[in-house]
Order: sequence, then structure tokens, then C-alpha cells
Amino acid sequence: MALVYPLPSLKNDLLLRAINRMPVPHVPVWMMRQAGRADPEYRAYREHAGLPLFDLFRAAEHAIPITLLPQRFGVDALIIFQDILTPLEPMGAVFDFAPGPQLAEPIRTAAQVAALRHREPAGQLPFVGATIEGVLARLDGALPLLGFAGAPFTLAAFMIEGRSPGQAMPHTIALAREHPQVFGDLIERLTEMTAAYLSYQGTRGVHAVQLFESVGDQIPRDLYERFAQPSQQRIFAALPRDLPAILFVRESPFPELMLESGAAVLSVGRSVSLGGLLARGAGRIAVQGNVDNRLLVEGDGDAVEAAVRACIAEAGGPGHILNLNHGLLPDTPFENVLRFVRAAHETPAPGAAGAE
Ligand code: CP3
Repeated sequence: MALVYPLPSLKNDLLLRAINRMPVPHVPVWMMRQAGRADPEYRAYREHAGLPLFDLFRAAEHAIPITLLPQRFGVDALIIFQDILTPLEPMGAVFDFAPGPQLAEPIRTAAQVAALRHREPAGQLPFVGATIEGVLARLDGALPLLGFAGAPFTLAAFMIEGRSPGQAMPHTIALAREHPQVFGDLIERLTEMTAAYLSYQGTRGVHAVQLFESVGDQIPRDLYERFAQPSQQRIFAALPRDLPAILFVRESPFPELMLESGAAVLSVGRSVSLGGLLARGAGRIAVQGNVDNRLLVEGDGDAVEAAVRACIAEAGGPGHILNLNHGLLPDTPFENVLRFVRAAHETPAPGAAGAE
């Protein structure tokens, strides 16, 4: 099979093989927010550091060891410890965590959008590059490292609501419908910034990037087609050809649109069949997902293991990265995180030598 994305020599290259839909002995596994509150070592680190969250993101001396924490429990990829809101600060939208993200003055007018600054991420966010380089140096080729960014519609929703959109984003929908030019201008600026920010992460050495459309389950289809889809497409088209991208859309209501995004990997929610999506992608995409994150909170270890096996069987072939439907929930028992990873490693990949 033709190799589409590079396969640098890493001790564990399962994730990069899966992105290329190559056979693997076991399906690679990682989780969003794997460096987060479900991990007792993360909680201990935060307590010991005694700093606000943003200070940890902004200082490579903290972001490097936190990014590396999940390596000890056997995941097949790390993701940089940052936040989707990090690159908004140089634009002039400064969020506080109290504890959820909050913006003192939500962005809702043409004048506020026009006042947002475009600045080169390399100059404004040197700590992101320093974190990537520091993590790669310490990994010494052990594992792949993922970079990431929020998708423009999701970032716009945080800026317009002035907080986490949660289950509703009335101001965002209203602005998009009533002032599409203002909303479009905001999306345009975020698209340019995000393409530059992800390319910058690529130049510092991340092996792949993930774009988070975290409000994807709340965007009405017409607005998704008009704003979300084109902004995702433009970002993926702007990335260097050798930097594979994963598109995450929360609960993925429109998988047929995701197939046209240009992403190498589609990370989907519970309602999407992984095997069905791989078949529809017909050799163009790999898939990521989609065990229910609530099961890891509520189920016991055996239930977690059964869900992992069922998910791997359902995907049914090469081109699957095991993950959750969304991020790890903070109250997830850590034993279940460990069991999730162990079950992935103990289940032979479909089609691998020795698989049933
Ligand atoms: O291991 C990792 O995945 C760590 C890197 C990471 C963080 N945020 C650190 C973080 C990643 C990939 C993110 C992405 C992110 N941040 C998203 C997209 C993913 C998704 O959930 O859909 C979003 C929407 C955010 C915005 C955000 N950051 C919110 C709404 C919150 C507060 C809610 C919460 O869970 O506390 C955060 C805080 C945040 N970012 C935490 C972490 C580990 C919680 C940390 C803590 O309280 O110590």
C-alpha cells in the first residue's frame, strides 16, 4: 500500500501506521485529556505547583513534564499540554479559568472583531514550540507527539459566549444568523490564525495535529455548511502535505461532511459506525474513537474491557485509532483509564497475525 504520510523511525509508530491504514499488531490508543484530572499524578503535580492553569500552559518547564505523564501508563501517543484557548490571547481575547474558562468582555460586535489582532504564533507563543521540542527531546523517539488547535467555529463560540458553550450557544447562533458578515469576519481571522498555529507546531516537530470542533454537536446544518466546514477545509489544505491531521467533531452529526474535510483521520462520536465510516471513506481516511467516556466513569473494569473489544471489532480493520467519544471526564476512576489502555494492547488488531 502506498505510504501517504511519513513514517519516521519511532520505537512505537502504531499511531502513524494506523493513520496510513497499515496493519498493526494492536490498535493504537490515546485519550483526550489523558493529561488531566483523572490522573492522580496530574492532580498531585497541580497541587504541588500551586499555579493557575494558564501559568502551567504558558511555562514549558511545567507543560513538558505534564505532557509526558501519560507515557507511564502505556498510551501510544502523547498530546501537548495546552488549551484550545491559548492562541486567542495574542489576538486580544484573554480567558481566565475560574475554574471554567471566562472572558471578561464577550466578542459580539463588528468593532470588537475588527480590533482582534493577527500575530504570528511563532513570535507570540514561543512556549508552545519550546514544549514540543522539550517533549520530543525527552521522548527520544519513543512515541509520536500530537499538536492541536480548536476549530474556528468552536473558538468563535467560546469568544461570543464568553465562556464554555456547554449545551447551548444562543449568542453564537444569533450572531451567525443575524450578522453573518461579522460572524464570517471572525471565522476568517480564526481560520488564518489556526492554519498558521498548526503549521508552526508542525515545524517544531509534532507528528500529527488534531483540530477540535468541540461544539460540533450544536451547530445547525446550514451554519455548519456555511462556516464550520469551509474553515476546516481551508485549514487542512493549508497544512504541509507531510503533516497528517485528525478532525474531531463532538458526536459528529454530519459524518458525510467530515469525509469531505480533507483530514486524514476522522474522530467520531457514538452515533457513527467506525466500520461503516472506514468503508465509506474507501481508503481515503482512517478513523478514531469511539468508546463512551461515561462508561469509564460508571462501568467496572470488565465493562471497559468489553467495550474496547467491541469497538475494535466494530472498526474491523486497519486504520483505527482507539479513543473515546469525547475527553476523559475528571471523575473517571484511574483504574478504568489503565484498563482501557491495557485492553487495547491485549486485543489483537483485526487482521493481525494471531487475531481471531
Ligand atoms: O491530555 C490532554 O488532552 C491535555 C491537553 C488538552 C487540554 N485541553 C488541557 C486542559 C486538550 C487537548 C484540551 C482541549 C480543549 N480545551 C478543548 C477541546 C476538547 C474538548 O473537550 O472538546 C476544549 C473545549 C477546551 C476548553 C477547556 N479547557 C475547558 C472548557 C476547560 C474547563 C473544563 C474542565 O474540564 O475543567 C478547560 C480546562 C483544561 N484544559 C483542563 C485540561 C487538562 C482541566 C485541567 C484542570 O482543571 O486542571
